[in-house]
Amino acid sequence: MSTTFFDSAVGKKSGVNPLGLKGIDHIEFIVDNADQWRDFFIGKYGMTCRYYADEQSGVMGRRAHVVGQGRINFLIAEPAGRGTEADFLRWHLEKHGCGVRDVAFRVKDARFALAEAERRGARVIRPLDEHAQFNGGSIAAYGDTIHTFIERKPHTDFAPGYRPMPGGVEEGDIHFAMIDHVVANVEHMEEWVKYYETVFGFDLFMHFDINTGRSALMSKVMSSTDGWVKMPINEPSSQNSQIQEFLDRYNGPGVQHIALLTPSIIDTVAEMRRMGQDFLDVPDTYYDAEFDQRIGEIAEDKALLRQLKILVDRDHDGYLLQLFTKCVFARPTLFFEVIQRHGGAKGFGEGNFRALFEAIEREQVKRGSL
Ligand SMILES: [Fe+2]
Repeated sequence: MSTTFFDSAVGKKSGVNPLGLKGIDHIEFIVDNADQWRDFFIGKYGMTCRYYADEQSGVMGRRAHVVGQGRINFLIAEPAGRGTEADFLRWHLEKHGCGVRDVAFRVKDARFALAEAERRGARVIRPLDEHAQFNGGSIAAYGDTIHTFIERKPHTDFAPGYRPMPGGVEEGDIHFAMIDHVVANVEHMEEWVKYYETVFGFDLFMHFDINTGRSALMSKVMSSTDGWVKMPINEPSSQNSQIQEFLDRYNGPGVQHIALLTPSIIDTVAEMRRMGQDFLDVPDTYYDAEFDQRIGEIAEDKALLRQLKILVDRDHDGYLLQLFTKCVFARPTLFFEVIQRHGGAKGFGEGNFRALFEAIEREQVKRGSL
């Protein structure tokens, strides 16, 4: 097994934000049943309903819920009725199964962002939609994924035709503050590294090659200069790679996982487990003596981490705790990550690929099968 890490920033900071991004505004999922997936995020991710849209509210071709917590907004849309939009949603579902259509950014000036992105080589998918309180327009990204630029007056609704939903108090034990990173699986990593450099002015934040023997991948993390938007881009580097499996099952490039930042991973994972969310299987051997050596002193109770099967990784600056859900949709494509960072840890849990692989091997040795 060869595992190579480059822990420090490798790119030269460009120090610019040519499109005027303010961060991720929302992520849009196209799903088979919007009510079911709304209930899923409310029940298992502690989110609340924020907005609703359908034909009656003035949005044609779809029924959509916006759910969220903290600065996270998930737009969950299903096709409804007839027409171009409904046909498109059905086509997307047929091709990809449930999945992410749009990673939308909040911008200072949507008209400017769209024009500047086009000037820098992006393909405009939806021209500027102008309203008194809201402007939006979209460009193509990897596969059928798009980026929408959204400019919204403060204290206004999500988008034209989206009605605010009353009530919804976040009072459970599941705590999410914001999206930490959004990961893309693509066929050709360099093409999309160049796209985020050229169009968005993003920097290469770090990169790694991972080969566990079972699965190999290369990853480059592109980041906005302010660090608020981080987008790792994965490319398969073996035929049996989990990235290749995603590309086959999703029918092309797309969003592989979305990491949600929590201030309290122990409470959050404990409650998500109680509400029925399944997570990646972590063998008990992950928490052997190697764990103590690798991780050293941490604030959390290690017995509790072992009980909840939470993973830990250390880097130059601090350490992070993380855990991955199982794939959530019918196809084995998209999953979520719960992540907590300590002491300015900047990594993505690269060390856990090796640690998990070795833990599985130790488990096999204990069973006498290796
Ligand atoms: Fe991640």
